[in-house]
Amino acid sequence: MASLPIPSAQALAHSAQLQSLIQQHIQQQGGWIDFATFMHMALYTPSLGYYSGGAKKFGFGGDFVTAPEISPLFAQALANQVAQVLQITQGKVLELGAGTGKLAKDLLLSLEKLETLPSQYCILEVSDYLRQVQREYLHEKLPKALFDRLVWLDTLPEVFNGMVVGNEVLDAIPVHLVGKQQGVLVERSVVWKDGFAWQDKPLSAGSLFNQLAELDLPDGYLTEISPAATGLVRSLASSLKHGAIVMLDYGFGASEYYHPQRKAGTLMCHFQHHAHDNPLVYVGLQDITAHVNFTAIAEAAHSEQLSILGYLNQANFLINCGLLQILEQASPEHMEVYAPMVSAVQKLLSPAEMGELFKVILFGKGIDVPLVGALQGDKRHTL
Ligand SMILES: C[S@@+](CC[C@H](N)C(=O)[O-])C[C@H]1O[C@@H](n2cnc3c(N)ncnc32)[C@H](O)[C@@H]1O
Repeated sequence: MASLPIPSAQALAHSAQLQSLIQQHIQQQGGWIDFATFMHMALYTPSLGYYSGGAKKFGFGGDFVTAPEISPLFAQALANQVAQVLQITQGKVLELGAGTGKLAKDLLLSLEKLETLPSQYCILEVSDYLRQVQREYLHEKLPKALFDRLVWLDTLPEVFNGMVVGNEVLDAIPVHLVGKQQGVLVERSVVWKDGFAWQDKPLSAGSLFNQLAELDLPDGYLTEISPAATGLVRSLASSLKHGAIVMLDYGFGASEYYHPQRKAGTLMCHFQHHAHDNPLVYVGLQDITAHVNFTAIAEAAHSEQLSILGYLNQANFLINCGLLQILEQASPEHMEVYAPMVSAVQKLLSPAEMGELFKVILFGKGIDVPLVGALQGDKRHTL
């Protein structure tokens, strides 16, 4: 904490407003709330939550940088996967959690070059504030013919054919903090004691209890379970009739996620490019995130009749999608253009940066050809 930058007075006032709202909610709920509720309020309370309020979040001047913000090369490679599914289904694109709109812009421009434009590019975004950011950005950056294909949805469509894309969405979905203390399965809740504080409560019988009991964790272990993330996958499965879903995010399969040595879980906060593990401070000003348990995501998809079409690290996926060939088309003679491209490719592919920790999972319905993005390096067997 000592090393975190100090927010402006205006930001602190904004945070105090949200803090008081959460404090009231804790009182109304009898003195405590589970962490998933706290995380949901901290990130998504209208106008005040981290994703719903007005500060810059993404990119170099924000709190963290995502792959689409690093370089358009990410979208250009991903477009090859999207184009394959659009050719098979003649369907649309649905992007979940579109952030600033950068991925939507670069994907649409790339799909136009590939002559595979979808009739509609739908965006489902939970934050009203980010919807507005996306609308303004895409209106400014895209020619009218492309902008007119954009549709912002309020809910998932009952029937969807085509390609669903979600980059770093699953990690932003609220998690329950659970663990084992002195032999008892507990849920870590948030209380108010002159400030937010933790309190562990014995878990009562129910689905969280059963999932945790099955993990057979060592004593003193704290981790996360996200029923909301698996619920989102189940809803997507029921909406998708013909097509594929690609989700890109940091995380691992269950055996690594719940490894006995990962005793403190994966919860992380980001404030102005400082990463730390205390979500109870700077409420509404900092991102709160947990790694994705891809085994749970795959099980949810499988239980809803989606086929798992691939699970691999981001480096293999982007290479399969032709990232290196796209780089080769650029001329090294123009160093001012070429050098940033090489540096972006290095960030996206290097195992020390995003290449290994970030994974890509692909599901589908009615797709019976191998997907280009999963041709090499598929690790479905590790899930
Ligand atoms: C970490 S940001 C990633 C933004 C963008 N995809 C990118 O890669 O830059 C997470 C995004 O997911 C959105 N989000 C979170 N939960 C969502 C949900 N259930 N459905 C749709 N969007 C969601 C957030 O509002 C935000 O836009």
